[in-house]
Amino acid sequence: VFHVKHPTPPALLFLDKALELARERHLLRERAPRTIPLSRCFSSNDYLGLSLQPVPSAQPGAGASRLVSGDLPIHAELETACSDLVQQPHALCFTSGYAANIGVLGALAGPGDLIISDALNHASIVDGARLSRAQVDVVPHLDLRAVRGALRRPRSGRAFVVTESYFSMDADGPDLRAYRQVCDDSEAALIVDEAHALGVLGPEGRGRCFEAGILPDVLVGTFGKAFGAGGAFVAGCPALIAWLWNRARSFVFSTALSPVLAVAALAGVARARSEGWRRDRVLAHASQLRGGLVSLGIRPLGFGPIIPWLVGSPAEAVRVALDLTQRGFDVRPIRPPSVPAGTARIRLTVSAAHESSDVEALLRAIADAHGAG
Ligand SMILES: Cc1ncc(COP(=O)(O)O)c(C=O)c1O
Repeated sequence: VFHVKHPTPPALLFLDKALELARERHLLRERAPRTIPLSRCFSSNDYLGLSLQPVPSAQPGAGASRLVSGDLPIHAELETACSDLVQQPHALCFTSGYAANIGVLGALAGPGDLIISDALNHASIVDGARLSRAQVDVVPHLDLRAVRGALRRPRSGRAFVVTESYFSMDADGPDLRAYRQVCDDSEAALIVDEAHALGVLGPEGRGRCFEAGILPDVLVGTFGKAFGAGGAFVAGCPALIAWLWNRARSFVFSTALSPVLAVAALAGVARARSEGWRRDRVLAHASQLRGGLVSLGIRPLGFGPIIPWLVGSPAEAVRVALDLTQRGFDVRPIRPPSVPAGTARIRLTVSAAHESSDVEALLRAIADAHGAG
């Protein structure tokens, strides 16, 4: 009906063809309302169950970029909380993790430089590396030898090694101490995106760098996942923060993080640190779900609250997810280009907002679906 009333204009008819092709390949993403209650939702990154916690109200808009309109006290307060969380000297807030990654890479690297990037790094890292116009060497996932090899080759400019600390689609992570050592040996900067680790992994949810006892040169964290809000931060030395303030285009040329989100993020960081029971609970649910899947003959990947389970083809991932949705669970298929071709998967996530009985109910549904599949 929508299409009949609003036909695609002639100059955009190529979109109709491209959409049809994606649909035929089971790669079309379609909108779906959120109707399933949180207890049945196994697709969100709200690992600690903080996204529904009420927070004090605040002014909604920052009004302009901080370079134009100045700093609000809430931004400074949040940045202090973030730098304290990850034990880095300073931090700077961004409006999203996407903005943080494109801002950081675009500001630090340039033509003639080398960015060594893990093959499974998030799209925002991929895009940031492209925007920087540096040479990008994509190394196989978690392959430290390949990183070392790339750093040994002659280069004229600076080198940056960029990795996630807990990969959002494979639920694994690098040996961060070894990465730190390899970077130090080659005078390369280490950039670590802790988007999915902060709040959940490491003591007090301080992340995997803290847990490994290393300081990356640049640490990226987001507020939209375990901290239950939205926005992001970059932490590091004062020179890094001053440089980003001047050169990170997604910071300089963008309205500052909304004070409402900053208040929510500040509350999220505080609760994540102090309410250790949330971490215990989400990790207990993860063990329960992982153990249950193994007893059903399914081998989930990795560790922690992200529980991916490879099914191979996009069609099969869509079929399994639809089956579980029809059984009342919010479970989503993850398909290329979010993951490499041939590795379509069901990506389950658990939350402290779940009860153990919710995990049990999901396992029963998976067992039934498996039997029916
Ligand atoms: C590793 C990683 N970095 C950055 C982002 C982007 O964060 P945001 O959702 O705040 O834009 C995501 C997820 O969305 C992510 O998984």
